[in-house]
Amino acid sequence: MGKKNKKFEWTRKHLLGLRDLTAEEIGFILDTAEGFEQVSTRSIKKAPTLRGRVVVNLFFEDSTRTRVSFGLAANRLSADVIDFSKTSSSVSKGETLLDTARNLEAMGIDIVVIRHCAGGAPKLLSKNINASVINAGDGFNEHPTQALLDVYTIRKERGSLKGLKIGIAGDIAHSRVARSDIWAMTKLGAEVTLIGPPTLMPGKVEELPVKVCYKLDDVIEELDVINMLRIQFERMGKAQFPSVREYSHFFGLTVERMKRAKDDIIVMHPGPINRGLEIESQVADGANSVILKQVSNGLAVRMAVLFLVNQAAMKRQKK
Ligand code: CP
Repeated sequence: MGKKNKKFEWTRKHLLGLRDLTAEEIGFILDTAEGFEQVSTRSIKKAPTLRGRVVVNLFFEDSTRTRVSFGLAANRLSADVIDFSKTSSSVSKGETLLDTARNLEAMGIDIVVIRHCAGGAPKLLSKNINASVINAGDGFNEHPTQALLDVYTIRKERGSLKGLKIGIAGDIAHSRVARSDIWAMTKLGAEVTLIGPPTLMPGKVEELPVKVCYKLDDVIEELDVINMLRIQFERMGKAQFPSVREYSHFFGLTVERMKRAKDDIIVMHPGPINRGLEIESQVADGANSVILKQVSNGLAVRMAVLFLVNQAAMKRQKK
């Protein structure tokens, strides 16, 4: 597994968030992911790592990247993969989350990958079932594998996050990606600035290890990395800014604004993109963008997470 710290022992059976992880644990996941990257370059893209294990993708919210990436990652590790969706299951008849999970567990599942609109749903599951639980995004709380693939991508581009100035711009209030990014990036030594209108800043922002800036133009020149967040209209009860046009004018990453950024600034976005709103198409598809690299890197990161939680669960079973 490449340069992985061989003395370190991974012990977590679940991955619920990054807030409680140490820098060493985050680094260990990234090193493990490096080792898994080569599986996807083989002519037969398979490793026997999770043979005989059952992974359930339990998605209560829509997803393209995370859902497919976890499914593919589990398939590449030779697990049996079950894809569960809210609309075609008995959840539509009123079955609760816990009843759903316990019934799936009765069929012999080992790992649950869950996305849910309620913050804390993965933690609740982890306390009530024996299977490992991986958080694939819970409410406004965390989206740990997205942040892991974000820092993995930056580390691949720059070697390290130490001392980098990273801007996270846009709808931070509704963003679980931003919360997980803040923990991962600052633990790995980056300086993070949140950029957006006051209405899109999270509550108690002063308690987070970040700087806050209300004008993208004030910081664009000094950033090494900018992560543009999607405006999440579906989570907004009422309008949080006067108009889409005004938002785009002050906070959109435009070709014009990019002229003032460093030549080698790394442009990121977790997807899905609102083209022409938070980012112009020429920038999203331009030379500084690593948006599709983020998606590719997510596969190795999710293979690493599946491998590590399964390894920890199996070690506990033996004790
Ligand atoms: N980045 C992300 O979580 O995308 P999906 O909602 O498509 O999974």
